[in-house]
This record gives sequence, structure tokens and C-alpha cells, in this order.
Amino acid sequence: MIRFDNVSKRYEGGFEALKGVNLAMDAGEMAFLTGHSGAGKSTLLKLIMLMERPSRGQLLINGKNLSRLHRSQIAYYRRHLGVVFQDHQLLFDRSVFDNIALPLLVSGYQQRDIGRRVRAALDKVGLLNKEKSNPMQLSGGEQQRVGIARAVVHKPRILLADEPTGNLDPQLSAEIMALFRDFCGVGVTVLIATHDIDLVGRMGERVVTLNNGVLTTEPQ
Ligand SMILES: Nc1ncnc2c1ncn2[C@@H]1O[C@H](COP(=O)(O)OP(=O)(O)O)[C@@H](O)[C@H]1O
Ligand SMILES: [Mg+2]
Repeated sequence: MIRFDNVSKRYEGGFEALKGVNLAMDAGEMAFLTGHSGAGKSTLLKLIMLMERPSRGQLLINGKNLSRLHRSQIAYYRRHLGVVFQDHQLLFDRSVFDNIALPLLVSGYQQRDIGRRVRAALDKVGLLNKEKSNPMQLSGGEQQRVGIARAVVHKPRILLADEPTGNLDPQLSAEIMALFRDFCGVGVTVLIATHDIDLVGRMGERVVTLNNGVLTTEPQ
């Protein structure tokens, strides 16, 4: 489902952010990606999102070699991904419902399907009663849940999160991580980058660690 074969990433200017990374994750598996600031966590996620390209090595996602993906296939490929960021990037000029509906509108879903899917996503994150609210009226934890609902509304096969609990207190962070675990329970592959080692330790899930661009992966 996710496979890195000897992947290196050298940025323009020469800095090597990832060095010979090997990683394999099955469908429905969950893992935390940890490591110090600057270790290469965001770079690794960006390679999966096709926001960056590897300098060496190969990436296989859902059986597809990303280096062979034609430019015209990228938008379609990304529909299989859900992405959650630290600053959830919600739009404050529209309701919670409309924020979550946006990716479906862009993908050309029918109005009827949109309503059904948005409410299913809101239900999963426990915010069914907030669809008419403006995201500005919600707490930080609730806003992050809306961000997660938006990331999963199109039922992606892979869910990526980059420091999703960076702005939240420990209790809320644990709740958000538990929510991610619910998704892997239904077959979604979940990879979460975080430097919160205490929280990761409490979750008891697989951990892969980057150190200056070198990945160490514990036996499963
Ligand atoms: N676009 C870029 N150009 C050059 N260097 C970059 C770029 N993006 C990230 N880097 C460098 O690559 C290293 C890894 O960055 P990043 O993947 O963001 O690490 P992390 O998410 O673990 O903090 C850092 O030293 C960073 O400065
Ligand atoms: Mg980062």
C-alpha cells in the first residue's frame, strides 16, 4: 500500500533531507513517524502527496510506481489521499458543512451524495450537531476534527497527517489520535508525523523514526 524503496530526497541547494529510506505499510496499517525537527518527516509525507519528487529510489503507492505516473494522472491519484495539517486551514467565510463539502464539489460529486457523505464524515468525528456553525465558533480541538472530516469525506485509502496535534493540549491530542485509529480499523492506511514522543508511546502503535533523513523502522 505504501512502499519506499531506497528513496533519497535532495533539495535544490544540495541538502539531503532523506537518505535511502525503506518503508513498507500494508493496507489498514497505522504508524507514527517521529523524529527531531528537521529530520525529514514533512518531506517524506510530501513525497507521498507528490508535492515533492524523490531524487533517487522508488515509491509504490497502492501498487502504482509514482515515478511512472503521468502529470495528467496526479489529480486522480490524490483523490486516494486524505491529508490533515497542524493548522487545519479551514475557511472562516463559510460553514462547517461547506468546508467539508469543498473537496467533493471540486471532484464533481452530485449534491445528494455530498449531503450524505458530509454528514457521515461529521458523524465519524462526533460533530454532527455543528454542521451549520462557522469554524471560528469552534474550539481548537473541534476545528481539528473538522479538518479530519474534510480529509476523509471522499473515503481515501491513505490518510496522512503532519503534526495534527501540534496546537492541542495532551487530552485533546490523545482524542484526536484515537480518532485516527478508528480509520485504520476500517482499512485505511494511516501515517501520522509527530514529534510528540510521549503521546506516541501511549498509543502502542507501530513507530518509525527519522534521524537526519535516515529511517529506522522497528520490526512489526
Ligand atoms: N523546499 C526545501 N528546500 C530546501 N530545504 C528544505 C526544503 N524543505 C525542507 N528542507 C530541509 O529539509 C530538512 C527536513 O525538513 P522537513 O522534512 O520539513 O523536516 P521535519 O518535518 O521533520 O521537521 C530540513 O533541514 C529543512 O530545512
Ligand atoms: Mg515537519
